[in-house]
Amino acid sequence: MERQKILIVIALLFITMRILYQAFPADEATEENQFNEEGLALPQPGKSNNISVRQAMQDRRSIRGYRDEELSLYEVSELAWAAQGITNEEGYRTAPSAGATYPLELFLAVGEPGVSNLESGLFRYIPEEHSIKEKSEQNVKEEIVEAALGQNFIKEAPVAFIIGAEYNRTTDVYGDRGKRYVKMEAGHAAQNMYLMSETLGLGMVTVGAFNDEDLKDFVGMEAEPVYIIPVGRPE
Ligand SMILES: Cc1cc2nc3c(=O)[nH]c(=O)nc-3n(C[C@H](O)[C@H](O)[C@H](O)COP(=O)(O)O)c2cc1C
Repeated sequence: MERQKILIVIALLFITMRILYQAFPADEATEENQFNEEGLALPQPGKSNNISVRQAMQDRRSIRGYRDEELSLYEVSELAWAAQGITNEEGYRTAPSAGATYPLELFLAVGEPGVSNLESGLFRYIPEEHSIKEKSEQNVKEEIVEAALGQNFIKEAPVAFIIGAEYNRTTDVYGDRGKRYVKMEAGHAAQNMYLMSETLGLGMVTVGAFNDEDLKDFVGMEAEPVYIIPVGRPE
């Protein structure tokens, strides 16, 4: 009888902890936000909210004015997952990909204000680990604005995502036609981000007007840039 009571208490404790964890996920990882060889693990995505996909489509708008406020690491986690998160054991992702060749690379330029408990810098999203890896400690927001023909609002956003493409992953399979598949895929990933951003109460815009070579240079990326996507809290 006594043993049964202990088991019930343990079960209740376990359930309470699960409920608390779901209500308050490990938003900011830890204060240290330690990077290891795999990079910085992002908080588990998937905290539920009550906005339907339909509502998000209805309300989505391109937003170019952002409050001077940080994003949380959880918000970054959700946005990266929306763009390129892995959703099954075979490595398939949130966005469709011609022949599942996955040519897209997702970069994050974090400035000031940026992301809570994260230093400014350039990072790459690693879908397999749902983590980010640091590429450099530089805040390159000014340079990104310059590459983007002076679109100054990019600088005001706490995070500018950059979708880059390794075309050969897809053209090796589909030849020249693969180029169009890659650009289509970037559109799918970006639309996922628009909808996710809407459900998080954030604002973003897909920016296609920029000088490719300048952007590659400033960001130090080998992938071909397709989109710059500044995200922040709408003004
Ligand atoms: C391929 C593409 C490129 C775009 N490039 C830019 C851009 O360089 N700068 C910008 O401010 N908006 C850009 N936009 C956003 C459009 O201006 C925006 O989607 C359009 O005005 C419709 O507004 P909505 O997104 O709020 O519906 C781009 C959108 C797409 C699809």
